Amino acid sequence: MADAKITLIGAGRMGSALAGGWLKAGRSGQIDIVDPAPAGVVQDWIAAGQVRHNPAPAPADILVVAVKPQVFGALAEEIAKRVGPETRVLSIMAGVSLATLATRLGTANVARAMPNTPGLVGKGVTILCPKPGTTESDLAELKALLEPLGDVVGPITEAKLPAATALSGCGPAYGFLLAEVMAAAGVAHGLAPDLAMRLARKTVEGAGALMEGSPEDASTLRKNVTSPNGVTQAALEVLMSPEAMPSIFEQAVAAAIARDIALSKETE
Ligand SMILES: NC(=O)c1ccc[n+]([C@@H]2O[C@H](COP(=O)([O-])OP(=O)(O)OC[C@H]3O[C@@H](n4cnc5c(N)ncnc54)[C@H](OP(=O)(O)O)[C@@H]3O)[C@@H](O)[C@H]2O)c1
Repeated sequence: MADAKITLIGAGRMGSALAGGWLKAGRSGQIDIVDPAPAGVVQDWIAAGQVRHNPAPAPADILVVAVKPQVFGALAEEIAKRVGPETRVLSIMAGVSLATLATRLGTANVARAMPNTPGLVGKGVTILCPKPGTTESDLAELKALLEPLGDVVGPITEAKLPAATALSGCGPAYGFLLAEVMAAAGVAHGLAPDLAMRLARKTVEGAGALMEGSPEDASTLRKNVTSPNGVTQAALEVLMSPEAMPSIFEQAVAAAIARDIALSKETE
């Protein structure tokens, strides 16, 4: 429904990136924003009459919950006042399960999505996890709502969400860490810190851009820049030995999954 009334709860970094995309796409439906102290860009939309701010509770067609998971428990009763029998709920909160959303908001019509920080510049990937049995047209609508943040993948089942989150939700930090440890290695081998960080950062950025523009998979791109017996191969033999990156990443993802599951239990 292009003219569905959307109520956004929480217009912080992610919430305002979503709402900015809806406004840019020229959605015809009313957009209501509920947030005690919205950021500057949101204040501009309110002043321009593009969105309504903190309207009295009334059922939304689509309710998007983008507050921190830690505050959801205390807010759920208030938020539930904006949920009617026809309201569809989309939560981007990490770790709040479909069952918890359904119980606390009093509707079975719930979906979760897990965005990542590159979504703030429209380059993210968001995992869509709707309730089982969600119709194709509802899926298409949920995807359209999330597209301001970048690619939308799924639907996936909730059982797979912790592993998917451990890749894409946490993954931007892995990319930043790669730049950090590359720079530190350069410093250890005599480069000035500024130069080492510039080289590491631009290289990680450039590799990402190359991958974005290429139909090849990551493994082929890696092989394309690795001459037999060359300098890169010498480094990769260290990084790719079984006890190095393959094993470390497997352990890191296992730790992220365990933490995600524990956090979900805390918000039940
Ligand atoms: N950022 C990410 O990369 C990322 C990735 C995946 C999932 N998520 C999920 O996205 C959600 C939002 O994250 P974020 O980074 O956008 O957080 P954020 O910038 O802190 O945004 C949350 C917003 O909710 C507002 N808020 C607080 N109390 C409220 C209330 N009573 N009613 C309405 N709004 C209220 C906050 O206002 P104040 O600032 O004034 O408290 C803030 O504007 C989180 O649940 C997070 O788990 C984020």
